[in-house]
Amino acid sequence: MTSASQAALILGGSGRTGSLVARHLAGRGIPVRTASRRGSDVFFDWDDPATYPGALTGTDRVYLVTPVLRVRYASQVAAFLDQAEAARVRHVTFLSTYNGDRAPHEIDIAAVEADLASRGTFTQSILRPAWVMQNFTDDHLPVINGTITVPSGGGSEAFVDAADIAAVAAKTLLNPDSHAGARYALTGPQAITFQDVATTIAAVSGQPVVYKDIDQEAWINGAIAAGVPAGYAVMLRWLTGAIITGDGSQPTGDIETVAGWPATSFEAFARRNAAAWTAPEDK
Ligand SMILES: NC(=O)c1ccc[n+]([C@@H]2O[C@H](COP(=O)([O-])OP(=O)(O)OC[C@H]3O[C@@H](n4cnc5c(N)ncnc54)[C@H](OP(=O)(O)O)[C@@H]3O)[C@@H](O)[C@H]2O)c1
Repeated sequence: MTSASQAALILGGSGRTGSLVARHLAGRGIPVRTASRRGSDVFFDWDDPATYPGALTGTDRVYLVTPVLRVRYASQVAAFLDQAEAARVRHVTFLSTYNGDRAPHEIDIAAVEADLASRGTFTQSILRPAWVMQNFTDDHLPVINGTITVPSGGGSEAFVDAADIAAVAAKTLLNPDSHAGARYALTGPQAITFQDVATTIAAVSGQPVVYKDIDQEAWINGAIAAGVPAGYAVMLRWLTGAIITGDGSQPTGDIETVAGWPATSFEAFARRNAAAWTAPEDK
């Protein structure tokens, strides 16, 4: 069973949510071990199974972030979970995606969710976040020359703050028994359009920002031309298709229920991050 000295293993430990999960857990009585290829406590590479045991040794709970920018990883995750069972991990919190259980079968999100649910030796919590607000402050959905270009057809999305995702993840890792079997759809407090996003960024940054809709396939081709792996197109098509067809995420109360405070609004996020859109080298 659990010993006080066993650590929480945070995969994607240098990433947007993993780094914040680690911060939330610090000083809460559980040692924290971040893991990734660069900038974490331990070296962990999904493509090198020899790195799995070292990361898992002495841990009893895991924040699971699967390989990014690819869609086939279920067998790697299964191999990792086999080792997690052998290491007597007792809880896994998985960072999935909104409607992850309904992802196209070419994407391994639902397969990983099903794998987790089928394991009997540890409990699991599944987090299904909407599009993350930080997409607008990093290189995912940047403002370029005063323009945000994404295919949306005017549809909306309940964008969520990565900090809120991390807070919920930390709660599940601190009290696994209270969140065993939970599926949390993590969203912001409002479904807003990309036009709303542009208007808000313009207001907080004091710079003109407009939204431009674009043909979905043209946008995906542009992403691939810019370096996104071609195999990831199915994911981009699914994510943007949901918004275009009016099936974007809708606000839930799951963040408030678990974290204990209301989900961050896009406006509050934008005010907090206004500098991201006003740096001289930016746009
Ligand atoms: N962006 C969104 O709007 C959104 C919405 C819902 C769900 N999600 C999901 O969120 C997940 C990403 O989480 P995040 O945003 O917290 O992380 P992130 O900021 O995208 O960073 C990815 C993390 O994974 C690590 N990583 C990448 N490739 C790896 C590999 N081969 N082996 C080991 N570690 C690797 C990275 O570190 P190194 O590169 O140094 O290894 C980094 O720590 C994805 O599964 C995505 O589908 C994203």
